[in-house]
Amino acid sequence: MKLSTFIQMSLFGIKTIIFKKKDPILGTIIVTDRCNLHCKHCSVNNITSVIYPYEQIKEEMRELFDMGIRILFFCGGETFLWEDGGRTLRDLVTEAKDMGFSIVNVVTNGTFPIDLPEADLILLSMDGDKAAHEEIRGECYDLIIENIRKATSDNICLYMAVNQLNKHTVEPVCRLTEEKNVRAVSFNFHTPYPGTEYLMLSREDKAEVCALIGRMKDEGIPVFNLKSAFSYIVDQSFPTPCWQCVVMENGKLSVCGRCIDVPGCCEHCGYFFAAEYTLLFSGKPNIIFEMLRTYPGFIG
Ligand SMILES: C[S@@+](CC[C@H](N)C(=O)[O-])C[C@H]1O[C@@H](n2cnc3c(N)ncnc32)[C@H](O)[C@@H]1O
Ligand code: SF4
Ligand code: SF4
Repeated sequence: MKLSTFIQMSLFGIKTIIFKKKDPILGTIIVTDRCNLHCKHCSVNNITSVIYPYEQIKEEMRELFDMGIRILFFCGGETFLWEDGGRTLRDLVTEAKDMGFSIVNVVTNGTFPIDLPEADLILLSMDGDKAAHEEIRGECYDLIIENIRKATSDNICLYMAVNQLNKHTVEPVCRLTEEKNVRAVSFNFHTPYPGTEYLMLSREDKAEVCALIGRMKDEGIPVFNLKSAFSYIVDQSFPTPCWQCVVMENGKLSVCGRCIDVPGCCEHCGYFFAAEYTLLFSGKPNIIFEMLRTYPGFIG
């Protein structure tokens, strides 16, 4: 992470904590809900299948930038399916960088060739060992591993949504960080959109998985999560929503996540970022120290 970005983020954090401000710093733009996969745990794919136009996304970027947002994520649907008149995801990333966003990340299912060195991080979904990943996502594991190995930059962070189908395969995903081009691994727990409640972890499951992730981190696996937030995640005791995060989909701006309006989600929120950011900005010292130690090493 550049020193200027670090200072910018630190100043934002100090102002937010001292003055209890609710200004956002992290924004996500959904570029399409179209997807080539139909994962069992996912409720946000192929609802309209529209690829949002370049000009619209550019306006959304400008709106987020003007709100003070400096960390931008592109998400989907499948982000690598995005194109408009010859422009591709890479153009969106470079446009965002040119506009002045300090950190620009992309979330992908990894089934397309990965040639995106301009992104700070490519969050690549990996939902377990081959058997668990394919039970959830269909036959695509070998292709993804090949795409990781052939990627043109080492900015990949594996991204696992832990649920009832893959909770026993957290360690193999941690071990995949030894693969070329993989910088880290980051976890979420399943968030129960209606119809997917059966995939949610119990409190005991969450405690076991967090203990394992903690051991992996102690062993030196590059885990991009904060151990000091685990007890809040297990007990579901972090405040929601996260005011410092927003998501924009087709002109609609929501605080925290697009799940904000989905009944039953926030009470069982499994998104680690929501816990980590709300705890950080409420001024918890151990969260602040761990974030300062963890984040700069993984970004940029
Ligand atoms: C919606 S996908 C979009 C990007 C891309 N298609 C992918 O799979 O990475 C973004 C991330 O959300 C995760 N996800 C989907 N549904 C979820 C849920 N109910 N709870 C937690 N994570 C979920 C996916 O596993 C993926 O890592
Ligand atoms: S690849 Fe991503 S968007 Fe597509 S169905 Fe799976 S989780 Fe959802
Ligand atoms: S707290 Fe935020 S991320 Fe979690 S379910 Fe609610 S809106 Fe989604």
